[in-house]
Amino acid sequence: MSLTTCTIHVTPRQERVVYVSGDLAKALKLAKAQNVTLKLGSKSVSLRLKLLKKSGNHLYMTPSVYTQLRLPRDGTTMITSANGKELRLGPMIGILTNIVRGSSAPFGSRTEFIRQFMRVGADRAFYFGFSPNDVNWSQGTVSATIPLKEGGWARKTVPLPDVVYNRLPSRKAEKLASMNAFKQRFVRQGIPLFNWSFFDKWDVYNLLEGTDVFNHVPESHINPNAMQIKEMLEKHKFIYLKPTAGSLGIGIYRLTYNPKRGYYARFRRNGRNVLLRFSKFEGLMALLNRHNGSLHGYVSQQGIRLIELDSCPIDFRFHMTKNSENQWVVAAIGAKKAGRGSVTTHVRTGGQLMTPEQVLQQVFGARADAVLSSTKEAAIKLAEDIERNYRHTLGELGFDIGIDKSERIWMFEANSKPGRSIFKHPALKEEGRASLQYMYDYCLYLSRFRSRRDT
Ligand SMILES: Nc1ncnc2c1ncn2[C@@H]1O[C@H](COP(=O)(O)OP(=O)(O)O)[C@@H](O)[C@H]1O
Ligand SMILES: [Mg+2]
Repeated sequence: MSLTTCTIHVTPRQERVVYVSGDLAKALKLAKAQNVTLKLGSKSVSLRLKLLKKSGNHLYMTPSVYTQLRLPRDGTTMITSANGKELRLGPMIGILTNIVRGSSAPFGSRTEFIRQFMRVGADRAFYFGFSPNDVNWSQGTVSATIPLKEGGWARKTVPLPDVVYNRLPSRKAEKLASMNAFKQRFVRQGIPLFNWSFFDKWDVYNLLEGTDVFNHVPESHINPNAMQIKEMLEKHKFIYLKPTAGSLGIGIYRLTYNPKRGYYARFRRNGRNVLLRFSKFEGLMALLNRHNGSLHGYVSQQGIRLIELDSCPIDFRFHMTKNSENQWVVAAIGAKKAGRGSVTTHVRTGGQLMTPEQVLQQVFGARADAVLSSTKEAAIKLAEDIERNYRHTLGELGFDIGIDKSERIWMFEANSKPGRSIFKHPALKEEGRASLQYMYDYCLYLSRFRSRRDT
């Protein structure tokens, strides 16, 4: 497998010929005069190869080949050849998401993040955004939203990509059978698609049950009945009730049991933190049933006594990505301190973002480094085990991880399309960039744009 970068030029020369500079032919181990197939994403053209006496890596094609391949632009990109007969230009990285047509922010609130991602390999890959409606399966093309060098966006018809990064934003839409079939179509055509869909909290519990890292998952039950809630409260003294398909802390209750004083429920109502006390368990259940009808769709989870600063609980967001070697890495860690009286550590409910070093030094002193490394190790193992038991390809994960006062590590939640709010912290900007670089590298791995022999 040979891999290098090249500059593509469009020139009106002889038809059905691709001209390659001597240096490029050498780098790709191409024999002199022969027929080759030039590929871009799902499109390919058979051409006669001719060498040019020219230094540097250059490739010349005619306007008609350029059109047939549906190249989004000329200029530099990667080129790879497995056998000296097939030349692949690319990779074509497609980002699947919702698109607002004609807008200067075509991907809505995700526009800035997607633009940043597209910058990582801007001169070594073709990036485009697309929505499910943009794919024309019979033509094998996509009506793509492409970044312009000078800023802004253009629409262009391009081939199907080499790899799909899924950032569809709607949990509901992703559960539709039609969406499932749509994504399966890529996989069936040999196009890897990663970050298949959102995880429900209960999915992750199932994926990890029976693995070596299950001891990092708090005891949990789906659709808990009154008996189970009562038993858990007696056993653990406090529990969390969370919608299995929820996010952003919405709909979460923190329930506490004190044998002398009764039951407490902490939750958020109309933008405020509420704390209610019930002397009897039935009173607590009446509240929960009044709010929800039943606890169908909820997970009850053992409460963890998190480490604290200024009496506010702290937890951590571990942003995990795959790398060029298909291994999991901890790309970044944000520490989150809960707002006063808040059930969760989300910034929207008064939480504060900090660096893990700031927090762990204060809490664990000289043991801070050791605690951080063992938590990183646990996070990698958790990612590996989730992946092993999951049917689809994963590229990134966002773990909400707690550490308790005895240094035990707990994972509350795994997000398969992690948000990027931790990267707003000035100290995590560099990690934000690094996380996108890892994602790009992983795209190279999945699309087989690699120089290694074991591909
Ligand atoms: N079992 C638990 N014990 C202690 N704190 C928890 C527990 N579950 C959740 N939390 C707190 O609530 C926050 C939100 O819970 P999480 O499961 O991440 O739900 P969401 O999808 O709403 O983010 C966590 O980041 C953590 O601070
Ligand atoms: Mg969370």
